[in-house]
Amino acid sequence: MSPRADVSIDLGDRSYSIQIGSGLLGSPDIFAGLPKAGAALIVTNTTVKPLYAQRLRDAIGARYAKVHEVVLPDGEAHKNWETLNAIFDALLANACDRKTVIFALGGGVVGDMAGFAAASYMRGVPFVQVPTTLLAQVDSSVGGKTAINHPLGKNMIGAFYQPLQVVCDLDTLHTLPPREFSAGLAEVIKYGPIADMAFLDWIEANVEALMRRDTAALAHAVRRSCEIKAHVVGQDEREAGLRAILNFGHTFGHAIEAGLGYGEWLHGEAVGCGMVMSIELSQRLGTVDRAFATRLTRLIERAGLPVRGPALGPDRYIELMRVDKKAEAGEIKFVVIDAPGHASVRGAPDALVRDVLAATCG
Ligand code: NAD
Ligand code: GLY
Repeated sequence: MSPRADVSIDLGDRSYSIQIGSGLLGSPDIFAGLPKAGAALIVTNTTVKPLYAQRLRDAIGARYAKVHEVVLPDGEAHKNWETLNAIFDALLANACDRKTVIFALGGGVVGDMAGFAAASYMRGVPFVQVPTTLLAQVDSSVGGKTAINHPLGKNMIGAFYQPLQVVCDLDTLHTLPPREFSAGLAEVIKYGPIADMAFLDWIEANVEALMRRDTAALAHAVRRSCEIKAHVVGQDEREAGLRAILNFGHTFGHAIEAGLGYGEWLHGEAVGCGMVMSIELSQRLGTVDRAFATRLTRLIERAGLPVRGPALGPDRYIELMRVDKKAEAGEIKFVVIDAPGHASVRGAPDALVRDVLAATCG
């Protein structure tokens, strides 16, 4: 096992650590701090199970008398009630009690659903995030947002529920398809313009190393992303205000995902393109200059992400964005870059949004 970095997320009695390194998944020591229980349930999917489930079983097998498993269908299109219910079926069929520890082994889809199941089974059972995609390691496994999609809106049904621990084994990123890896880079890039321009400079200098999956570059990207996210969530766990900046690009991005049908574009692809639209909006609001908007768009493109939105039509985009969780009394809210490294949430005139869509779609 190579050296590992720990990032703490400070939430009082719900604080936990995020362990980041190579070779963590097969190490029983990593899980030594978890509470004792009679059983564990590994929630994974048809793609991740053959790659990593046995390694996790080997690591936790000695801790639990029984290690059950539920294997979900793969894909965003399955992030729904029916698939969630398969987790409850497995918990009940195996007579799992309220001490049963749920392990989410997979990307953000598995993590969000396993977390929501953990939040609601017997009104809450312990759970551990073992993210295996870049996106999940830098974002979705951290911070306690759990959810399923509704056909009318992304992540509309869910709960805030923190894991006991997050274990990011960088080795798992080597089996990710390139398109999925690029999708994860979108959420890495996001942290620069909203919070840390030095990190944006670093990503620009290291995007090729990241795409080669250089271990040192991956370790830095995951650690710095988790540090920024932990800092924001530590101040505003339930998104009363500040946490919404983590949704940079997501108002447009969620509309792309719902408008095309979940799974057509990957979440990270929609966020990448949504950031292009949001920086265009920021530039038109006068908070950043054209050079910064071009710089960010170029980086998103270099990361292998789409920079032009699908031609859903402005009316459809606006209709979809009204269902976003940040909308208030029907007013759509956007995360805008106030100045490089700083973001805030605000509304924008419909006419301006239409100009942005005209400039960035099709
Ligand atoms: P995903 O979970 O669909 O995983 C992407 C694909 O990679 C899937 O086909 C998966 O089976 C496969 N995969 C996973 N690990 C692999 C590995 N190591 N090797 C090979 N293949 C692997 O998608 P994602 O990008 O990880 O997550 C996107 C989801 O996360 C969305 O539903 C989004 O809404 C959610 N999300 C949640 C939060 C949050 O705070 N809770 C934040 C961001 C995104
Ligand atoms: N991914 C946005 C958040 O966790 O708040």
